[in-house]
Amino acid sequence: MTHEQWYLAGIMRSLHRYASDGLVVVIMVHLLRELSLGRHRGVRWFSWVTGSMVMIMVFIAGISGYWLVWDQLAQYVAIVTTEWFDMLPIFGEPIARNFMSPTALESRFFTLMIFAHISVPLIALAILWMHLQRVSKARINPPRGLAVSVFVALMVMSLVYPATSQPPADLAMVPAEIGLDWFYLSLFPLLDTLPGNLTWSMAGVFMVILFSIPWLPPLKRAKAAKVAKVDLDNCNGCSRCYNDCPYNAISMVARSDGAAYKREPIVDPAYCVSCGICVGSCPTATPFRRRSLLSPGIDMPDLTIKKISDQVKTQAMGLTGSSRIMVFGCGDGPNLSRIASPSVGIVHLACIGQLPPSFIDFVLARDYADGVVLTGCNENSCSARFGIQWTKDRLAGERDPHLRRRVPRDRIKMVWAGISGLGQLRRELEQFGEQLKDAPPMALQQTTPLQQTVNTVKEGV
Ligand code: HEM
Ligand code: SF4
Ligand code: SF4
Repeated sequence: MTHEQWYLAGIMRSLHRYASDGLVVVIMVHLLRELSLGRHRGVRWFSWVTGSMVMIMVFIAGISGYWLVWDQLAQYVAIVTTEWFDMLPIFGEPIARNFMSPTALESRFFTLMIFAHISVPLIALAILWMHLQRVSKARINPPRGLAVSVFVALMVMSLVYPATSQPPADLAMVPAEIGLDWFYLSLFPLLDTLPGNLTWSMAGVFMVILFSIPWLPPLKRAKAAKVAKVDLDNCNGCSRCYNDCPYNAISMVARSDGAAYKREPIVDPAYCVSCGICVGSCPTATPFRRRSLLSPGIDMPDLTIKKISDQVKTQAMGLTGSSRIMVFGCGDGPNLSRIASPSVGIVHLACIGQLPPSFIDFVLARDYADGVVLTGCNENSCSARFGIQWTKDRLAGERDPHLRRRVPRDRIKMVWAGISGLGQLRRELEQFGEQLKDAPPMALQQTTPLQQTVNTVKEGV
């Protein structure tokens, strides 16, 4: 393929090989990212376990691909793999015997390998579909620029370093030197040299650790918060919670309480990660109501809208100075207790997406603070996937519920600093404090231009 028809088959072969190597890199980066963001614990064990299954299948598919070439590398891979499996007392006849003599190698065996090389990725695809069942709006296609650049890079590599085969397999001799594909075959030298019982034990221990990672310490999130709870008395069936939930945990079903609305949300506890984003989307979650009525259509039992409203009021009471700032943030961003001061109050949320925009209006309109800061994870690594994005969209008026237009935008700041961004948050708070000193008085900012003219005329009179 590489030499006789390099322009079509050869390039396709090289693209196939380099893209497969790239897949290993992408899977590893994705695995480490999810691990570092802690997105594998609690009910998210499902994504971790199905992801691990896909990863193993990708390796099986990649290794079986090397057999198909039937060069000296394939011979090495075939012998090492079959000898390794022969160490298990499950096969009546040693399968490595297939490769002991040229006559013993049957074409049936290659048919089996081709079948494996095609069926294993198809099974992996089915598991990948399951992998994505518990996340909503998963971004499957990369941005166009990234897709084009990766394709061009792979094409250039395919033209400059076309994939080649090694000398043909010769079962009469043992290959002296072979080049390995380190992406798929890096463990083969170990399988080849270490005793079989040791490598099988190592493989067993690795598997047990891999699949039990969601339940291993540190169990920071093991004491899972309670899942979102619907209160039909305050729900109008608008579906915003359903649209905003990043984990497919909410379904809209026929109304069961006889109210005039058609539908109602139900929460599946097996899917809910307790991020509170649904509360931030609910039109009935507003602090402007009387305390006895502060009960939205959907709420987090551990951190209710009432409790958030109480935090705001308690913090506001302690604030002094000419630029008082109320910071709303989550536990996955910078350590908020380290920035509390007489001029900075802290309100804790499950995720920044739990904050209904009306709270910002509430803080400024009631003069609980002079400015509001929203903080949390790094911009592209929200622990609850869409907390930052939905918050930005709601404040920009691109997603319900909108932040009212009367709220002065120069009194709001977003600092997506991440868990290691305490220094950045401190610096930005300081700058924001200075900026607030120069801001026009709130009373003027919250009136319309017409009202301002009326006020000015009145003042003149
Ligand atoms: C071909 C392999 C894989 C593909 C194509 C894939 C794809 C995806 C995609 C598209 C998402 C949704 C991400 C988002 O929009 O936030 C996701 C989530 C996730 N993946 Fe994978 N994945 C693969 C393998 C793995 C592996 C090997 C692991 C770990 C062992 C893993 C662990 C996870 C976890 C824990 C989540 C859930 C994130 C959350 O709950 O927020 N994935 N995967
Ligand atoms: S708390 Fe988060 S995961 Fe649970 S239903 Fe609400 S938005 Fe969905
Ligand atoms: S967003 Fe609130 S009002 Fe709308 S369906 Fe969900 S719980 Fe009900």
